[in-house]
Amino acid sequence: MPYFEVGWAQKWAQSNGVKHTISDERIQGIACGADDFLSKPVNSQELLARTRSLLRLKAFTDELENAETVLFSLALSIEAKDPYTKGHCDRLANYSVAMADRLGLPQEQGIALRRVGIVHDIGKIAVPEHILVKKGPLTSDEWAVMKQHPGVGERICSPLKSFRFVPQIIRHHHEKMDGSGYPDGLKGDQIPLGARILQVTDVFDALTTDRPYRAALPRGFAIATMREEAGRGWWDSSLVEELVAIVTGSQKLVAEAEVPVGR
Ligand SMILES: [Fe+2]
Repeated sequence: MPYFEVGWAQKWAQSNGVKHTISDERIQGIACGADDFLSKPVNSQELLARTRSLLRLKAFTDELENAETVLFSLALSIEAKDPYTKGHCDRLANYSVAMADRLGLPQEQGIALRRVGIVHDIGKIAVPEHILVKKGPLTSDEWAVMKQHPGVGERICSPLKSFRFVPQIIRHHHEKMDGSGYPDGLKGDQIPLGARILQVTDVFDALTTDRPYRAALPRGFAIATMREEAGRGWWDSSLVEELVAIVTGSQKLVAEAEVPVGR
């Protein structure tokens, strides 16, 4: 917790002939990252009370960090069950934050997207391993179990107040723009923006990495697939284009290739 001695800015202002007030320097101090102020001469009772208050705050922050760490570890342990998804959560977090930056979203949304990139599939803890890593297509009963993971993930993350925005993104990360997704069949703008962002990053990463049933697709091919699927009514096409801008930078797309069959 950084501290700035009250008076530093005033001394600087006086030596530079600038009009300055205590209020100004408090504002400047906060802007520079100060968490608290102590006026000199220091009152020992006040110092003691403030120190106790800050220690309570630190204990609370540590507790929160511990809870978050447990959830992140749990999410990564689920990811580790499937060798084909190694690094998927980290990449998703990075893509999603890049999208939040590009769209100029508030900082708290960017933080939520980073967290949700890691924990979005935490609800798969409730999905038996033989379903989770099954190489062939799932039966309808197995699909019914798999489709519960967004709701389970939402319930796991809801009690954590610092995870504001995260539970609703988790719940809706498998919705589709045309209403054919799950669990609630939301359409278009009914799907939270964070969930729509996560969807396009999730799909892009899935397409461009190796899977048990196919090798990673070339980037241009994956983009063509996503554009086709957005046209079909699955993904938010404007967000697909934002992601394309991020992953291609200034490079021209290599392939506006035909879309692979079977996805
Ligand atoms: Fe999922």
